[in-house]
Amino acid sequence: MLTIDIHTHIMPETMPNWAAKFGYGGFISLQHHKPCCARMMVDDKFFREVESNCWDAEVRMKECDHHGVHVQVLSTIPVLFSYWAKPNDALELSRFLNDHIADVARRNPKRFVSLGTVPLQDPQLAIRELERCMGELGLAGVQIGSHVNDWNLSDPALFPFFEAAERLGAAIFVHPWEMMGQDKMAKYWLPWLVGMPAETSLAICSMIFGGVLERLPKLRVAFAHGGGSFPATIGRIEHGFDVRPDLVAVDNKVNPREYLGKFWLDSLVHDPLMLEYIVKLVGENKVCLGTDYPFPLGELEPGQLIRSMPYSDATKETLLSGAALQWLNMEATMFR
Ligand code: CO
Repeated sequence: MLTIDIHTHIMPETMPNWAAKFGYGGFISLQHHKPCCARMMVDDKFFREVESNCWDAEVRMKECDHHGVHVQVLSTIPVLFSYWAKPNDALELSRFLNDHIADVARRNPKRFVSLGTVPLQDPQLAIRELERCMGELGLAGVQIGSHVNDWNLSDPALFPFFEAAERLGAAIFVHPWEMMGQDKMAKYWLPWLVGMPAETSLAICSMIFGGVLERLPKLRVAFAHGGGSFPATIGRIEHGFDVRPDLVAVDNKVNPREYLGKFWLDSLVHDPLMLEYIVKLVGENKVCLGTDYPFPLGELEPGQLIRSMPYSDATKETLLSGAALQWLNMEATMFR
């Protein structure tokens, strides 16, 4: 059964010293302090320990073989988006990451599909880099953050970018990042446990209420982590739309429930009841295996939850690859 994991992150083994290059800090660097392991640092502050499966395609393929995953959709680690940086610097960083991620897929086209990253703080630069990603680099699309500095995804400044993505046929993967409310979330890993699901719901609500999905019906968007808190709160969101259209329906008159089944979610919910629910909510054609490989909050045995469900083989195949192929606009034969 062809198995495609749409939510995996990768980074280059080495990167230029961006802070020295650009003359200011805040960028990620890697300290390779022993074989197989590195520390991701923001300036001199420790961010996360990573292992070689974070950059080494051979290690990744070996682990995929072990878990029965045939194809990984690669995207950068969201902390590298760098939307806060000066636009031309973020463009240079994006181009570096995109050249790398394209090269990984080019070397193993049956094992990897790549998504780029773009400097969305400058939508015109982002469109230019998106064109390069979809043309010269042959990527399948891009991963973007759940917001861009002060802009939600409904912001008119971002609309030309989404228009370009629709025109170019780029798949969009929306990933939470720079989580809201962190001043109240210093303990218990709350930015990841509470902030991330809220960020994803923020992104979905913004794209619905801002009319992005309405105006661009051919745009193919997938949201991480099973859509975060959106699926569980769609009843509340719809009710709010019904009772306070003066607040909610100001830019789009269409009931938010109408958009269920028009975007994709990944399957990373760690809970069979929730997986069953989102499959019913948006349809099996709109739920794709996603694991957040190689990070510990991901599905540590990729595909295990879907395989454990009492679904027919046809439904399992849809969840493990069919829905992903539609989102990516690709054919299964490309991977055989
Ligand atoms: Co992720």
